[in-house]
Amino acid sequence: MTDTIVLPSAGAMTEAGIDPTLDLVAEIDRLRRERNAVILAHYYQDGEIQDLADFVGDSLDLSRKAAATDADVIVFCGVRFMGEVAKIVSPHKTVLIPDAEAGCSLEESCRADAFRHFREKHPDHIAVTYINCSAEVKALSDVIVTSSNAEVIVRQLPADKPILFAPDRHLGAFIARKTGREMTLWPGSCIIHEQFSEKELVKLKVRHPKAKVAAHPECPESILTHADHVGSTRNILDYVLNSDAPEFIIATELHIIHQMAKAAPHKTFIPAPGADGSCNCASCPFMAKNTLEKIYLCLKNDAPRVEMPEELRLGALKPLERMLEMSVSVPVKAATDAA
Ligand code: 13P
Repeated sequence: MTDTIVLPSAGAMTEAGIDPTLDLVAEIDRLRRERNAVILAHYYQDGEIQDLADFVGDSLDLSRKAAATDADVIVFCGVRFMGEVAKIVSPHKTVLIPDAEAGCSLEESCRADAFRHFREKHPDHIAVTYINCSAEVKALSDVIVTSSNAEVIVRQLPADKPILFAPDRHLGAFIARKTGREMTLWPGSCIIHEQFSEKELVKLKVRHPKAKVAAHPECPESILTHADHVGSTRNILDYVLNSDAPEFIIATELHIIHQMAKAAPHKTFIPAPGADGSCNCASCPFMAKNTLEKIYLCLKNDAPRVEMPEELRLGALKPLERMLEMSVSVPVKAATDAA
């Protein structure tokens, strides 16, 4: 799985070598200026990482940013497949990721060999693949989608063509319901969105009758049926900021609440609960691997660095470019909206 990642060399500085008195934010700032680097962060990153990033966004916004930046170095604070996307669309940039082990349960559920077999079993289908997958799986796909453009893209596909959707079965089922298109779904799901409890959510709604529920389409249908709004992370953020409601239950990875609380401190945001009734389960262990120390180290060590064979990159670029072309109607988030 780490075939596309160049790890730090044997002599590189490790976390143990960092002077504990160092002002990490100031050092990261210095290195980012020195190296003409841009720091991109997903909404699922820790608040302190979102706060130092040059741009915070959802998967589509970050892909667009990575493709358009004129920085020499992209530090991608998210999970590994996001760094791969940055390298695929910006091959001449150095792409650094703070932790090579920051994976994704959806990516893990969909290995390239099994996906190739899935395609071979359905030769007439168009393969629509969620961006949460490896570069190898992208290269085997017809078009990539994110949660903010999947509906727009599926609506543009020829009506007489059957569709394969991988690897998130909940997002696929949601888009199938919205568009009326029949889809054969890969049986994958996100460990975070999978664990929200319908029973506990209903109990929470009873205790907070004024709260609106905003959910990510990676949630199972049993959760989405209770949602007042379903959308990508950026879309959920826009919804809670534009709504008059005073209180929201947020059914997605809980670190997005950082942006919500910053932009609307007078509103209340409650993470959706898991089966034990607590909300602690909604923190992604892969996203949590990134820290200020590792951001500092990747800039200093020039690694972990995303590299991949040109043939693989070109194979994965084609469906990603198709995605960018087919989502021109999805508004671009302004850089000034960041953090
Ligand atoms: P969006 O960024 O499209 O909301 O998707 C969230 C996600 O799955 C990140 O891995």
